[in-house]
Amino acid sequence: MRIDSRGWQMARGTQIDLPLRKWLFQDWGVNAWNSRFVLFNFRATQYLYARAGLLGRLWAIGYRLVTSLVLTVELPPELSAGPRLRSFHPHGIVIHGAAVLGADCLLRQNVTIGAITRRNGQDTAAPTIGSGVEFGANCVVVGKTRIGDRARIAALALVTVDVPEGATASGNPASVRA
Ligand SMILES: CC(C)(COP(=O)(O)OP(=O)(O)OC[C@H]1O[C@@H](n2cnc3c(N)ncnc32)[C@H](O)[C@@H]1OP(=O)(O)O)[C@@H](O)C(=O)NCCC(=O)NCCS
Repeated sequence: MRIDSRGWQMARGTQIDLPLRKWLFQDWGVNAWNSRFVLFNFRATQYLYARAGLLGRLWAIGYRLVTSLVLTVELPPELSAGPRLRSFHPHGIVIHGAAVLGADCLLRQNVTIGAITRRNGQDTAAPTIGSGVEFGANCVVVGKTRIGDRARIAALALVTVDVPEGATASGNPASVRA
C-alpha cells in the first residue's frame, strides 16, 4: 500500500509484468475494435507511465485529456487491472486510480468504480474487484468494498457493500443474492 500526492491509498499501482508486445495486446482478443482502441491506449499509457519517466508523465496528460474529454472514459494509468479486460460500449466509464480489478472483468457503458468523499473532505479507499466480475450498464460501485470473483453487478445497481464470490448485486441500494 502506498499513498499518492492526493492522499489516495494506492493498492498496488501498475506492475508491468509482461514484455511490451504482450502488455499492449493483453486485452485485444476479447474486445471489438472500439474497445481495442481504448484499451490499447490505456495499456500503452500504463507502460510509459511506469517506465518512461518524464516522457511517460507527459504522455499520460495527453492520454487523460483525449480519453476523458473525447471518449468520456477514465481509465487512469495508476489503475491496476488484470488481463483480458473487456468493455462492451466504451462510453462514460470512470474508474478510480486506486481501484484494483482482477482478470477477465467486463465493463459496460457508464460503469463507475470509485471512492466516496466524506463530509470532512476525505476520500474512502476504492473498491477491490476480483476476477471475472461483470458490470451491468450504469452501475456504481463505491467505497471500500470488495467484490468477489465471478460476481455480477446488475445494470443500474448502486453497490456500497461487499459482494461475495459468484453473487449478484442489484438495485439501489443494492441487495445481494447468491
Ligand atoms: C443482474 C443480471 C446479471 C441478472 O441476470 P440473471 O441472473 O439472468 O437474472 P434474471 O433475469 O433471472 O433476474 C433475476 C431477478 O433479478 C431481477 N433483476 C434482473 N436485473 C435487474 C436489474 N438490473 N436491477 C434490478 N433487478 C434486476 C429480476 O427482475 C429478477 O427478479 P425476481 O427474481 O424478483 O423476478 C442482469 O439482469 C443484468 O442486469 N445484466 C446487465 C446487462 C446489461 O447491462 N446490458 C446492457 C447491454 S447494452
